[in-house]
Amino acid sequence: MRTIVSMPGDGIGKIVLSEAIRLLEAAGFKANYVHGDIGWEFWKTEGNALPQRTIDLLAEHKIGLFGAITSKPKDAAAKELAPELQDKGYVYSSPIVGLRQHFNLDISIRPCKAFEGNPLNFIRRSADGGVEEPPVDAVIFRQNTEGLYSGVEWTNPPEEVRKALETHPKMKKFKDVPSEDLAISTRIVTRNAARRIAEKAFEYADKHGYKNVTVCEKPNVLRETSGMMVMEARKVAEKYPRIPLWETNIDAQMMWLTKNPEDYGVIIAENMFGDIISDGFAGLVGGLGFACSANIGDEVAVFEPTHGSAPKYENLKPSIVNPIAMFLSACMMLDHIGENEIATRIRNAIAEVIKEGKVRTYDMLKLRGGADVIEKGAATTEQMTDAVISKLK
Ligand code: NAI
Ligand code: MG
Repeated sequence: MRTIVSMPGDGIGKIVLSEAIRLLEAAGFKANYVHGDIGWEFWKTEGNALPQRTIDLLAEHKIGLFGAITSKPKDAAAKELAPELQDKGYVYSSPIVGLRQHFNLDISIRPCKAFEGNPLNFIRRSADGGVEEPPVDAVIFRQNTEGLYSGVEWTNPPEEVRKALETHPKMKKFKDVPSEDLAISTRIVTRNAARRIAEKAFEYADKHGYKNVTVCEKPNVLRETSGMMVMEARKVAEKYPRIPLWETNIDAQMMWLTKNPEDYGVIIAENMFGDIISDGFAGLVGGLGFACSANIGDEVAVFEPTHGSAPKYENLKPSIVNPIAMFLSACMMLDHIGENEIATRIRNAIAEVIKEGKVRTYDMLKLRGGADVIEKGAATTEQMTDAVISKLK
């Protein structure tokens, strides 16, 4: 039997992940779940939000389901460390970013597909003055390990860094800025990673019948990094004559998001641009309660909803949060390990619950979150899971 590393993390991550496992079991997916420690609790007690034992579990079992974690700014993080760990040089870093880096989970996949009947779906004015609901079905392939999120940055950069940068003519205009007044982030793109994300995107488009692939960058300004992303996408595109490659700029893409989102299929982007576009598209199909994702490397893959730990809802009993983003992430895991039939049954059950419209969490009713949403007609997290289970065929 397959073993899945279950990493609930913090806050509502614990709630939605346990509901997802309940659904997976009801759908007949047979697996052992081993628990992986991750998150704020382990930062506070061990000075490490991603303990080595969790890394070891993933290295052994390869597949992880992740809920969400809480993270806080540097100073707040330092204050919450256990007294015996204070001032020992521990520095907080995000464990999910850590996992992506450690296992080189360089392919992030974020499908944004509208479910029929979801009251949160984007609508727009049609030419005849009516209202139309575009059938959004975009899948963002975000380069997950480098780009602007490589982490190579400084405030008050060391002298050698300044010297190196000054070899670039455009650095002249910053010549007189004191180093302590200078903050620098780097956008690093390697050819290998740019090619990999493009290859995975085209493979996916081909396999799932998407009608186009778009590389969304800004090569007219970011000539080198975006230039390399676009160049590699073009090379890969040559192998797929059936699938046209479109090239858009990130800014224009955000405008077209609401004009013609249904025109886009698979989208390739660098880390930060992919982060932005995937949130943009997710907003058209229901937002955080529906946004699922996969982080895939050559060996290990971790599946997670894109939402965070929503601490303000952590202790609400019963829980009110929408577990669908976590369910859809679990379906991506099933697809990845070849359990497509179970994944399809779960997705169909979710689609049916949404279409029927009887069971809706507070976000689907556009209510402000709080304990009172239940009396206003919102389903609890568990009721949503039950409803999906009841529609499994
Ligand atoms: P968040 O995603 O936790 O929550 C933002 C708001 O979205 C919530 O207040 C809630 O109204 C709504 N929401 C989120 N998930 C929902 C769900 N399943 N159903 C219904 N509504 C939902 O982001 P926020 O508040 O900015 O951050 C809270 C904590 O989560 C922070 O510590 C942050 O660092 C962390 N975070 C972790 C992420 C991860 O684990 N991958 C991603 C984003 C934030
Ligand atoms: Mg984001």
